[in-house]
Amino acid sequence: MRCQRGSVILYGTLLFLIWNAVLVLFLRARLPDQGTKRVPNNDDNTDVVGEVLRVADMLEKELESQNKILMEIQKLKLGRCAGQKKLKPMLPPDPVISVLVMACNRVTVRRCLDKLIEYRPSAELFPIIVSQDCGHAETADVIRSYGSTVTHLMPVDLADVAVPPEHKMFQGYYKISRHYRWALNQVFRSYSAVIIVEDDLEVAPDFFEYFRATLPLLRSDPSLWCVSAWNDNGRQGFVDPSGSRLLYRTDFFPGLGWMLLRELWEELEPTWPAAFWDDWMRKPEQRRGRACIRPEISRTLTFGRQGVSLGQFYDKYLQYIKLNSDFVPFTQLNLTYLKEDVYKKSFQKEVYDAPAVSFEDIQQGALEGGGPFRLQYSSKDSFKVFAQSLGIMNDFKSGVPRTGYRGVVTVFLKGRRIYIAPPPGWTEYDPS
Ligand SMILES: *[C@@H]1O[C@H](CO)[C@@H](O)[C@H](O)[C@H]1NC(C)=O
Repeated sequence: MRCQRGSVILYGTLLFLIWNAVLVLFLRARLPDQGTKRVPNNDDNTDVVGEVLRVADMLEKELESQNKILMEIQKLKLGRCAGQKKLKPMLPPDPVISVLVMACNRVTVRRCLDKLIEYRPSAELFPIIVSQDCGHAETADVIRSYGSTVTHLMPVDLADVAVPPEHKMFQGYYKISRHYRWALNQVFRSYSAVIIVEDDLEVAPDFFEYFRATLPLLRSDPSLWCVSAWNDNGRQGFVDPSGSRLLYRTDFFPGLGWMLLRELWEELEPTWPAAFWDDWMRKPEQRRGRACIRPEISRTLTFGRQGVSLGQFYDKYLQYIKLNSDFVPFTQLNLTYLKEDVYKKSFQKEVYDAPAVSFEDIQQGALEGGGPFRLQYSSKDSFKVFAQSLGIMNDFKSGVPRTGYRGVVTVFLKGRRIYIAPPPGWTEYDPS
C-alpha cells in the first residue's frame, strides 16, 4: 500500500514537471534571437524580452529543484519497495491463528472480548470470531457493539435437541456440543489453527505469545493434539510463583482456552458426540495416547459462575486459579524440551531420581532440602486420598488424573516441587 501511494506521488510530480518543461519550451520559442532582434531603442520590446527571460530563468531553476525532489522520491520509493520485496521470501509468513469465542447468554462476554482485544498483538494474525448460540438479545447487542473488530456468527438452529427422557436435565450440554460442531465447522473453512475461548474466560497478557510460540510444536509433533492455557491445579499456593516460563506435557485434556489444528477437527468432526464433548475427547478412542501442552501458571481465568457446570466447583477451585501476570517472551525461548522424545526422558529422570517421601513427611513439614520430592501412590484410591488431603483435584477421567503425564501429577507446595507418581515402570492408564 505504501508503495502504491509512492507511485501516485511519483506520477503526480512527473506530470507537473512535464507541464513545466512544456511551458519553458514554449516561452523559449517565443523569444526573439538575442543577437539580432534585440533593438536597444525599442524600450517596450526590451522590457518584454527581459521579463520573459526572467520568467524562463525562474522556471528553469524551479525545474532543476523539482528534478532533485523527484530523484529523492524515486530513491525512497525504490528503497522501501525493494526492502519489502527482499524481506518477504527470507522470513516465513506469520501464521494466522483464529480465536473462536463461544458465547450464549452471558453479557459478561465483554470482559472476555476486552482482554482479548487489549492483548492481541495483531488483528490480522489473530482474527476474533464470536459464535453466539442461544439467540440472547442483550448478549447479541454487546457483541455487535464491537463493530468490525470481531466477527459475529450465529447458528440458525436454536431449537431444543431431541434427547432421551433421562437426559432432559442435560439439554444444555447437548446444545453446547451442537454449537461447538457448528462453530468449528465455520472457522476451519477459513483458518487452519483455532484457539477456542469460552465467554467466561479472561486471558493473560502473554496469551497470544504462548500460542504463537507453541503452534510450531503442535504442527510438528504428532504426539501432541492440543495446547491449553489452563492448569487444573493452578491455584495460588500450588504453583511455583516464579515458574511463569514453565510448560508441561499432559495426558489430561484441559480445555479452557485451547488450540487445535484443522487436521484434528477433520478427524473428530465425523464422530463428534451429541453431548459432553470434553469427556468424550478424554476417552482413549479419541485421545489415542496424545498429549497437550499446558503451563505451570494459567493463561486463562474463569470468572463465570453461572453456567451449565456447577457453581460449587467454581467456589471451591476455579475462582482461585492464578492468572499469569508477567509477559513471558515464549517465541524467543527454546521450547524443544517439550518434544516427546526429549521430554519423556528428562521428565522420567527428574521424577524417579527424586527421593521418595511419605505423605506424613509432607504434612508435618519434615522435608529437608529444596526438592524435588516424589510421593508414590499405588492405586487410584490412594491418589485420591493424597490429592484430597493436599487440596488438589482428585478426579480421574478415563483413568487420567487432572494435569497427569504418564500417571504423574506435579504440585508446588511451600516452595518445593512434589511429584505424585505411580511406582516406576508405569505403562498405561486404566480407564475402567
Ligand atoms: C534447545 O533445546 C534442546 C533440548 O532441550 C537442545 O538440545 C538444543 O541444543 C537447544 N537449542 C539451542 C539453540 O539452544
